Amino acid sequence: MAASLLLLVLRYAIISYFIFALCAILQIDIWARLVWRHQRRLSLVPGPPLARWSRLWIAKALASGRSHEIWTEVNAKYGSVARIGPNHVITDDPEITRRVLAARSGYVRGPWFDSIRIDPHITNIVSERDAKKHSKIRAKLAPSFTGQSLITMEPIVDELLLGWLSSIRTNFTRPGSASCDIGKMTQFLTVDIITKICLGDELGCVKYNRDMHRLLETVETGNRVCQYFSVFLELNTLFFQLARIPSLRKVLFPKPCDSNGVGRLMGIVHEVVERRAEEGNKLNDVISSLLSRGLSKEQIDSELVIALVAGSDTTSTSVQSTLLAVITNPRVYNTLRAEVRGAVSRGEVSSPIQDCEAKQLVYLQACVLEGLRTFPPLSQLRERVVPRGGDVLGDYALPEGTFVGLNAWGVQLNKTVYGDDANAFRPERWLIEDTDKLHMMHQTHSLIFGHGATKCLGASMAMMEITKVIFERGKLLRNFDIAITNPHKPWSSQCYGIFFQKGFNVRLDAIEDTFPPAYESTNTTAY
Ligand code: HEM
Ligand SMILES: *[C@@H]1O[C@H](CO)[C@@H](O)[C@H](O)[C@H]1NC(C)=O
Ligand SMILES: *[C@@H]1O[C@H](CO)[C@@H](O)[C@H](O)[C@H]1NC(C)=O
Ligand SMILES: *[C@@H]1O[C@H](CO)[C@@H](O)[C@H](O)[C@H]1NC(C)=O
Repeated sequence: MAASLLLLVLRYAIISYFIFALCAILQIDIWARLVWRHQRRLSLVPGPPLARWSRLWIAKALASGRSHEIWTEVNAKYGSVARIGPNHVITDDPEITRRVLAARSGYVRGPWFDSIRIDPHITNIVSERDAKKHSKIRAKLAPSFTGQSLITMEPIVDELLLGWLSSIRTNFTRPGSASCDIGKMTQFLTVDIITKICLGDELGCVKYNRDMHRLLETVETGNRVCQYFSVFLELNTLFFQLARIPSLRKVLFPKPCDSNGVGRLMGIVHEVVERRAEEGNKLNDVISSLLSRGLSKEQIDSELVIALVAGSDTTSTSVQSTLLAVITNPRVYNTLRAEVRGAVSRGEVSSPIQDCEAKQLVYLQACVLEGLRTFPPLSQLRERVVPRGGDVLGDYALPEGTFVGLNAWGVQLNKTVYGDDANAFRPERWLIEDTDKLHMMHQTHSLIFGHGATKCLGASMAMMEITKVIFERGKLLRNFDIAITNPHKPWSSQCYGIFFQKGFNVRLDAIEDTFPPAYESTNTTAY
């Protein structure tokens, strides 16, 4: 009896073992076929060998904190269109970039953009993928950031900039005073400027000398984590589903009642929107202008939060990288200082300098262009999708649905456009007579802000801000020498698609004045 029972159990065990093994083999087989088919999809496009098998390659690049350099290495090694994932290519060709981004090119924003939603169920101008919906919201937002609005923004920038400069002067220019973390101070300034422009009041980072509501800190952590959502798209789906459960949603996403971070910012935006709606908008801020253009309160909430985040880190990184490049190049430093001195001593500029005056200072303009070019503050892939029927990019036919990533850093290193020394910081390259070449350079440079129907709305505003800050800081430097506190490690800069710099410490030392020659008398063609 016991023996036959044992036999029965044994038989079942053996049968189920075989079934299990068969399933496992089938499973592996299906999985292997899928991976095999996927990796063959773009098999003609060259790229790092491991990248064709798995998206883990991209994730590893993102985790390194230097993805911008990795993208550039890949395009330099494998060509202007290279493969970085099973379904992913990346390009550093300016012409291809322009073609992909052009309005009506057929290319649309890919699921990559789902990773930058702040609220899972509400899109905003930056994350909206549907071209029609996007152009509608863009038409409503554009007037608030461009054209006439720029003129009302300028006094706001001026006021905050003057306060900022005076806080640097009082705290850091006495002999023996502490090093100045100019990076952190720049972040504070750009957050204050964008919040004042949009909300009518600054957060107060400069005044209180701290990261108000830990906004910068949470934006940094958020970006570090969210960049993986742009590769493992399943995570977006998972989170969007989880967000349907209210209690989970509260934990996973920022919300207006948070006491810190992006959630707190949402809360502040929300309060101001409510207040302005009641008051019957009269102020000169972006919220008022959006209300008057008929945007709903909920829409303004989500659009403004993303604009605040998009517009502060990028500008701060550009100011910092331009400053670092200028102060580590004695020739550039002296030429810029001479131009600043000349303009001030001839009484050609207001205090602070106005945008239209700054446009006349050619060396200043060249430094700002070159600062942006050698350190584009946005290096995210911003993947677009190959339209129906496929497309030929460079030498390769890409099937429809392929993700095309944009290598913003690589584009700005193109030797055909900028010359063999494209990787050098040399503002003089912008001071040439050849109008055709200049045109090509400017056209390529503008890709830093994107192109076509999704081109940055804050470009003019950012340029105005950067130029002003660089000039006014140059003016401060009329009487002070600025030097990096630790020349062996000027800063640490981490890339999460946008950049976060830490420990950019400088010293400001009073100097005896020996006026270098004014800018006009220096011969730039000699460089
Ligand atoms: C140096 C500074 C900046 C850089 C390099 C930059 C870069 C970019 C880029 C490349 C895009 C295109 C995204 C895409 O591929 O779809 C973009 C979009 C955008 N940027 Fe900027 N940006 C800067 C500053 C600003 C500022 C100060 C604002 C202020 C509000 C701003 C607001 C926006 C908005 C609203 C969009 C979305 C446009 C659309 O989707 O139609 N940006 N930016
Ligand atoms: C550089 O730019 C030119 C002109 O846009 C383009 O034809 C060329 O392919 C680019 N080179 C690289 C390496 O991307
Ligand atoms: C400048 O010094 C004052 C007084 O010591 C201090 O409260 C303030 O935080 C300092 N500001 C900066 C930017 O270090
Ligand atoms: C600038 O220098 C170049 C080369 O040394 C010379 O040919 C040119 O005449 C100079 N121009 C002026 C305006 O001095």
